Amino acid sequence: MDRTLTLAEPKLFIERMLIDGVWRDAGNGATIDVTDPATGARIGRVPDATAADTEDAIRAAEKALEPWRRRTAGERAELVERWHSLILTHVKDLATIMTAEQGKPLAEAEGEIRYAATFVKWFAEEARRVRGHDIPAPTPDRRILAMKEPIGVCAAITPWNFPAAMITRKCAPAIAAGCTVVVKPSDLTPYSALALVWLAEQAGIPAGVINIVTGMPEAIGATLTASPVVRKLSFTGSTRVGSLLMRQSADTIKRLSLELGGNAPFLVFDDADVDTAVAGAIASKFRNAGQTCVCANRILVQDGIHDRFVAKLGEAVRAMKIGDGRDQGVTIGPLINAAATAKVMAHVDDALSHGAVTAATAGGYGDATRFVTPVVLTGATTAMRLASEETFGPVAPIFRFTHEAEAIEIANATPFGLASYFYTDDLHRAWRVAERLEFGMVALNTGTIAMEMAPFGGIKQSGLGREGGQEGIEEYLETKAFHWGGLKLDR
Ligand code: SIN
Repeated sequence: MDRTLTLAEPKLFIERMLIDGVWRDAGNGATIDVTDPATGARIGRVPDATAADTEDAIRAAEKALEPWRRRTAGERAELVERWHSLILTHVKDLATIMTAEQGKPLAEAEGEIRYAATFVKWFAEEARRVRGHDIPAPTPDRRILAMKEPIGVCAAITPWNFPAAMITRKCAPAIAAGCTVVVKPSDLTPYSALALVWLAEQAGIPAGVINIVTGMPEAIGATLTASPVVRKLSFTGSTRVGSLLMRQSADTIKRLSLELGGNAPFLVFDDADVDTAVAGAIASKFRNAGQTCVCANRILVQDGIHDRFVAKLGEAVRAMKIGDGRDQGVTIGPLINAAATAKVMAHVDDALSHGAVTAATAGGYGDATRFVTPVVLTGATTAMRLASEETFGPVAPIFRFTHEAEAIEIANATPFGLASYFYTDDLHRAWRVAERLEFGMVALNTGTIAMEMAPFGGIKQSGLGREGGQEGIEEYLETKAFHWGGLKLDR
């Protein structure tokens, strides 16, 4: 273990995979390095699972399925609730691990652990509320039931930007529903996932119900998608990889949940409350240094409020503190790696070369290969890369507009349809715009939309299915029509 990671419970730092209740290395002993994005220093090494290791994990999940699904919903819920309370017991350590491998400031990491825990609690409760229904039959001697059953063995492939919350948002509903899981965390942030899975084990969730394989994605993803045993795949990540996994899953006709890329518009109308809009823009745009699929990517501001909004947003951005997430008062950490930094800087350079103007920055930080200074750009246009591509960094481009219809047209002019935000105090406009925005999530006068009780997901090339809310557990259930005929009811 790296001695710089000081944990109250050192057992949370794990460099092995859990398969069938056994913590083990890759069959061939291969490992990958995991580095700290703030310093570039190696944190440690985790197994680089082979296809054979992944098959072991699938077999373990298959073996554990029958006894797990036969437990009552209440029994499963109790174990999942125990997992929830253990996560909260270890919130500080889990945040320390997350900041080390992902970079987000400690306070934000702690916020993510608490957010991750809400899914565990919510789905423990939802386990008890799974309901089928009965259907009026066409003849007196027949009964028809629509019964809910767990899908079976599920695979979860999770991203680096939310190393804890995306694990719990997938695994908690799966196991609450009676499914078993093979989870593959991002190769960049495996330690948070390993710690969470260890806590699930400590909570008493039986061997094989949650298995975790770490390493590079190609062999693991190909094995999970090719397996006929795996009945469902849930993935959060890019549209490019989502589409690849969808193709790979076609031969086995898997159920898919795909949370993919976004290009969220953030509309501010003249009649909006400027302070509320600025607070929302900060929350939406700069969470996790702008590395979320639901980040405001295009900020569209109407003429009459434009200058006031830009001035206040600039003030808030200038007050941000960029640096190592472990340092006091830091609000913006490093980006995940040099490739991410290069892409964000390319978007900024492209915008400046097309006439954008820097309205405010947060002030620099030493290492420009890891850190990007938050910036507000005015004069953004649809000719710029940041209008059509997800920037995934702390860049706030302001597009100016005059008419409502023009703003809606620009907002919808994207193949993505994940999150959208708008600010107005006109209730007629509120309905009009909410109904016209073509996105899976529409937020009025708030910059936050991710929470356990609400369905989260996109349309168009942003994906399939919903996570969270009552929909979240449905994704792990099949409906079985049970027809009972020839009933002798007249005796
Ligand atoms: C994301 O996947 O980037 C968003 C996750 C969240 O907001 O929960």
